[in-house]
Amino acid sequence: MFWNNLQKTDNTKDEFWARRNNDSEDHYTQNAWANKAKGDISMKAVVDRDGCIECGLCASVCPEVFRMADDGPAEVYVDEVPAEAEDSAVEAQEGCPVSVITVE
Ligand code: F3S
Repeated sequence: MFWNNLQKTDNTKDEFWARRNNDSEDHYTQNAWANKAKGDISMKAVVDRDGCIECGLCASVCPEVFRMADDGPAEVYVDEVPAEAEDSAVEAQEGCPVSVITVE
């Protein structure tokens, strides 16, 4: 499935192998490449702070993206979700008890 997604975009396959052959670029995760294949270069996260009940789950599950702000509700403090935190950001979205997190 991952490979099929890669084949849907121009140049992605060649770029994949070029990067795979370069050890310094080996930090790219499978999810990051799948997103790249879909045309999503990066993920963004948003918290609807008005609805946040301050349970702290998101900041606990994905501290690379979410934190509890000084005024109470959670906030996103990065412009883009780091590739290595994509899975945990989605986990935070799915676990938020009031569904005020969007990750896309
Ligand atoms: Fe608030 Fe949901 Fe995080 S309630 S603290 S945004 S998990």
